[in-house]
Amino acid sequence: MALNSLADLYLYDLSEMLVAEKTIEQMLTTLAGKVQHEPLRQALEMHAQQTRQHIQNLQEVFQILNAQPKALTCYGLQGLRQGLDAIEEQKPSPNVRDMAILGAAEKVEHDEIAAYTTLLAQARLLREQQVIDLLHQNLRQEEEMARRIQSLTEQIGAAILGGNPAAYGYQPGTHTPQP
Ligand SMILES: [Fe+2]
Ligand SMILES: [Fe+2]
Repeated sequence: MALNSLADLYLYDLSEMLVAEKTIEQMLTTLAGKVQHEPLRQALEMHAQQTRQHIQNLQEVFQILNAQPKALTCYGLQGLRQGLDAIEEQKPSPNVRDMAILGAAEKVEHDEIAAYTTLLAQARLLREQQVIDLLHQNLRQEEEMARRIQSLTEQIGAAILGGNPAAYGYQPGTHTPQP
């Protein structure tokens, strides 16, 4: 597609976001079925449900703009997904897998926060208030989820250690970084 104007770029970015949200919805549902810790499963399922609303909100944005989404690849998300697959190939223990999934989920949310922040800047240039409101709804939920993931990382990490720092598995001098 030709990218000759800010409107072209805006529609390009919105299309990429729609593809990203659809992929994220699948990822969250799959990951919810893999995790051991119940509060994490609930958080992933709840956000999968919110993500279905994010998809609807973006589809509404396209209707308001009277435009069609383009079939694009979201390269940022593809990279995050491959990173998670690479960890899975190492056959992590269930606790380690949950912590790795928390790390990946945090990256996904911050990626979305960055994308919606840019989209909102574009929507403000366009001065389309309905679009601004819809994008804001999505951004607020991404920010809430990022905070929830952060606190779950601390809670679940502490639960895994069970008050025993030695359970962390770190022994001074044995984890020398490779050059
Ligand atoms: Fe989202
Ligand atoms: Fe999200």
